[in-house]
Amino acid sequence: MTKRRARPFVKWAGGKQAIASVLVGMFPGRYGCHYEPFLGGGSVLFAARPEVAVCGDQNEWLLGCYAAIRDDWPRVAGVLDVLPNTREDYLRIRAVRPGTLDPFTRAAHFIYLNKTCFRGLFRVNRENQFNVPYGAYDRRYYDPNELAAVAEALRNIEFRSGDFERSLAGIRPGDFAYLDPPYYKLGGYSDFNRYTQGRFREDDHARLASVCRELDARGVLWAVSNSDTPFVRRLFDGYAMIPVSNRREINLDPRERDITELLIVNYEVKINQDDRCPGIREGAER
Ligand SMILES: C[S@@+](CC[C@H](N)C(=O)[O-])C[C@H]1O[C@@H](n2cnc3c(N)ncnc32)[C@H](O)[C@@H]1O
Repeated sequence: MTKRRARPFVKWAGGKQAIASVLVGMFPGRYGCHYEPFLGGGSVLFAARPEVAVCGDQNEWLLGCYAAIRDDWPRVAGVLDVLPNTREDYLRIRAVRPGTLDPFTRAAHFIYLNKTCFRGLFRVNRENQFNVPYGAYDRRYYDPNELAAVAEALRNIEFRSGDFERSLAGIRPGDFAYLDPPYYKLGGYSDFNRYTQGRFREDDHARLASVCRELDARGVLWAVSNSDTPFVRRLFDGYAMIPVSNRREINLDPRERDITELLIVNYEVKINQDDRCPGIREGAER
């Protein structure tokens, strides 16, 4: 049997699944430890397949889910196997406070809600309560081979929940960070910014840019994904910006689904012109 490759086991708003290999193709050829402080659904991590990594996310429930799968995926699967997919059960499970559950049951509830809620998105209200309505989908909660592959890929990964600066603590010259914050939308509103109780605001984007400048001065390599907007371009003025095409399925307006975003880097990217990647737009500035 061929060994399955790890891939995201939850749907995640802003997930880079469609362009993960394009992005990874532009990562530095060699580097020390991989840092990913905005891990989300993990599509980039699973495409990059680093040996060692430190990953984080502000969403504690999501991060705990990764750790539970790494530590004992069959136990998470065992809980999922007995969760019924009906509206009544969904509402009952949605009402359970994650903090009252053991880590494996909490992880199973997270996956269950992601698979059965409307449009498969994670969204919480100001009280940090998951508030997405029932989706009535008839789908499997998980594939055992896939969860096993995920657990294997996470074997040497340290998880730190919380703000990105916490995940970056201890990063050293020659290490690499891939930073994918909630997308900045013109006007200051993100098309989706409800991954956590708080929001990622303009000053958080500015804070991220100044952290990147500090890392650059220390010889740490980084790549940041964000929208191609004057605000983002201004924040990262002086760095190479590579336009990348992406499709954002979560945008309700289909005209706004095909977008160009930026990959901003502080190292030289080698794009092989003979093997041009369809995701990279003409006129990339390097
Ligand atoms: C665009 S998503 C990342 C998507 C990911 N690259 C993928 O492919 O699935 C942004 C993530 O940042 C997290 N986040 C929001 N504010 C944060 C903060 N201050 N520090 C760290 N993570 C944060 C959100 O929970 C969300 O998972």
